[in-house]
Amino acid sequence: MGMIVPIQGKTEKECLDILKKLKEDQYFPYLYAVELRYDFLEKRVEKLADFLQGVRNLIGEKKLIFTIRTNRQGGFYPFGKSYFQENILAMESGIPDYIDLEVECGISGRESWKECIAMVKRLGGKVIASYHDFHRTPDLKECEAILERLSSYSPDIVKMAFMPKKQEDVLNLLFAGRRWRDKYPKKELITISMGEMGKLSRLCGDLSGSSHSFVQIFGESAPGQWKIEEYLKLHRALSARKGIALLGFMGSGKSTLAGQLAVMGDLPYFETDAVLEQEFSMSIKEYFQKFGEESFRREESRVLKKMSGREMILSPGGGIVLQEENRSFLKNYFFCVYLKVSPETVLQRLSGAKNLRPLLQDKMNLTDITEMMERRSAFYEETADYILEGDGKSISECLTELQSVLLENAFFPAQV
Ligand code: S3P
Repeated sequence: MGMIVPIQGKTEKECLDILKKLKEDQYFPYLYAVELRYDFLEKRVEKLADFLQGVRNLIGEKKLIFTIRTNRQGGFYPFGKSYFQENILAMESGIPDYIDLEVECGISGRESWKECIAMVKRLGGKVIASYHDFHRTPDLKECEAILERLSSYSPDIVKMAFMPKKQEDVLNLLFAGRRWRDKYPKKELITISMGEMGKLSRLCGDLSGSSHSFVQIFGESAPGQWKIEEYLKLHRALSARKGIALLGFMGSGKSTLAGQLAVMGDLPYFETDAVLEQEFSMSIKEYFQKFGEESFRREESRVLKKMSGREMILSPGGGIVLQEENRSFLKNYFFCVYLKVSPETVLQRLSGAKNLRPLLQDKMNLTDITEMMERRSAFYEETADYILEGDGKSISECLTELQSVLLENAFFPAQV
């Protein structure tokens, strides 16, 4: 789950001072995004673009979420026309990555929300459609209906935060999220059950489908947020996804990167092909010749299933995603990165390679590689949590990118 830290200074200077401190903090590399809670500011900022640029200079490439929480949904900003104006003004600067729009869930006002969301998107921003109730949790049916209504605006992330009054409220919210996510597996969701009773909801995104969690470094912005150091420890302990898997076509760099990543993270490293070669006491090429691809796929699948529940870096064979059951196993037990490269790169890397892949025998040409890749690319994308575009990048650039993605998702051993 990507960690987001809210910034809640009362003045521009206070916000920038907090950000300066944050940038120096040992946990800064772990953050996926910084949320600027604009409603905490006591005075409207005169030169918003300049202020946001100041924020950007401090946070570098971290994602910036611009949020105005209104008095209707637990914030400080008085709801009115200026709510829309201020959000659009923020996006006109081109600086925030996301605008959090507190979407009104009733039928009335639908058009103005739609217009505002479309406007943010036209300006190049992404939208978090959010809905909060700090007093109660709707029942399961209503939670599901709200999620559908929020997603009908086509935002980039749907966010729902409620206060539970009883244990069932927490479970209902999580369950509604899970169902929604299963229906829209590639859409992003944040579900939060607030307060002490709901704290678990902030940690169990693997179960509930929630993709991000708000954590505190300098104080909470909503009841129940975990301190980042607690969050990191607990998330790793509780997540069923203990491993990290690098997926991709033959020659995409899986083994090279997985080996080096394992050293960086001091983690064990496995290649399904190497495990199989040891078990068979023969090379993969020989196995294909003797027993054929179907038998190889069965064995590959069996080995994969032995790899759950342990922290490791896994480099499976490029064809692992062909079977539905493997894709679902990978999604459940690994954080998956797809190393995406072009057929040209594969051809260049594998022509003349010592380890000739059986499936590329007589097919070491652009047309055949492109065709095979096209058959697989949707499977890699479906399984991946993150896509790393590998063309034109050096090994060390890929490793740096991989490391920050893993840190930001709390999947790399804490180095603090
Ligand atoms: C295969 C990829 C190979 C190996 C086997 C089949 C594939 O592994 O498992 O030759 O179907 O893509 P690499 O991707 O490590 O080359």
